[in-house]
Amino acid sequence: MADNLRIGIAGLGTVGGELVAMLQARADQLSAQTGRRLEIVGVSARDRSKARPFAPGTWAWFDTPEALAVAPGLDVFVELIGGEDGPALRSVTAALTHGRHVVTANKALLANSGLQLASLAEANHVALAFEAAVAGGVPVIKTLREGLVGSQINRISGILNGTCNYILSKMETEGLSFTQCLAEAQRLGYAEADPTFDIGGFDTAHKLAILTSLAFGTAVDRDAIHIEGIQSITLDDIRAAAALGFRVKLLGVAERNEHGIEQRVHPTMIAHSAALAQVMGVTNAVSIDANAHQRLTLIGPGAGGKATAAAVIADLTDIARGNVPHPFAVPAAELTPGERVPMQAHRGGYYIRMFVQDRPGAFAAIATRMAERGISLESIMQRPGVEHFSGASNVPVVLITHATTEKLVRDALAAILADGYVSEAPQIFRIERD
Ligand code: HSE
Repeated sequence: MADNLRIGIAGLGTVGGELVAMLQARADQLSAQTGRRLEIVGVSARDRSKARPFAPGTWAWFDTPEALAVAPGLDVFVELIGGEDGPALRSVTAALTHGRHVVTANKALLANSGLQLASLAEANHVALAFEAAVAGGVPVIKTLREGLVGSQINRISGILNGTCNYILSKMETEGLSFTQCLAEAQRLGYAEADPTFDIGGFDTAHKLAILTSLAFGTAVDRDAIHIEGIQSITLDDIRAAAALGFRVKLLGVAERNEHGIEQRVHPTMIAHSAALAQVMGVTNAVSIDANAHQRLTLIGPGAGGKATAAAVIADLTDIARGNVPHPFAVPAAELTPGERVPMQAHRGGYYIRMFVQDRPGAFAAIATRMAERGISLESIMQRPGVEHFSGASNVPVVLITHATTEKLVRDALAAILADGYVSEAPQIFRIERD
């Protein structure tokens, strides 16, 4: 049997703890499958005195991840600390510079420094592997990098944040407010330490940045992503969407169009018949449109100790077998620069909800502002379907447009607001019908 693969684990929280347990429980199978024993040789965590399911001193203890990353004899540094800079960036950089493979679950780190870290890994002929960083236990990285290598990818759309999907699902199924559902998500431990990362769409954007690079051969660039969160979604919006045959989801979408690779994260109304509309709770899902495959949808646990640790183990077994691909599928130097496609150019249908003064001419003025810009309305509803909007002094009106552009919609809404019939900023959802 070949030499043991000597592993150091930085971060012994939910994922790190499960990783240790699974490496021990599956040691014989993993060595049979890879021809090497996957051996933990060192660990590091913030609090050495914390009670853990393994005896202190089982493995060499390192007070800092940076020290573990460069420990003599280490083959692989597993980074489960989190954070886009600080100890995570320093330790991963040190490990790669010293010729150690790196496995990380850290999407923020990759979205921020992915290109530079991939270059460093390639220069040192080691792996930078991150199956666990996107959609936790859903093997979407390997699918994009290896399984779909024969196909041109045209579009990826995903539910990539379990917290947001849990909140939106619970609002719909239990009729609760956004604030109530966020509090429950935090109580259950789904949300990030700072929930703004989840509900503001930033966590989804980090994951989308990584998927975009793999799918389209562009350099990871989170600044190329248009980002909106779910904070302003009301129960009434969700009910209005349901009455129209749609569900509201926070989607991350990257698609090739005539302007380039459009990348966006925003609440989206998805037709009930679409696969992503059926994904409820903390579950994640990614739909990939690839020319040779048409549409492929992967659905599964986006977080959680066991599923995420299993993704880390998948990367470790690749390394044990000597499978060390370019981190983003092609050499880092050949990734094309990310370019932000302006959201104004986005084309699609729109849901627009506004509170309109109940006086003669209001509907006509709104319809006129839309018609002036060539926006075709599929429906205008004061009710049914929108009678739930409670406590509003003005009348809730929902417009559904046929395909148009973001610019035209924004221009029309500015004119409608200037006309004085609408009392507050409208709610807008882009519509996806399949
Ligand atoms: N906060 C993240 C989520 C955890 O809710 O999906 C996994 O990245």
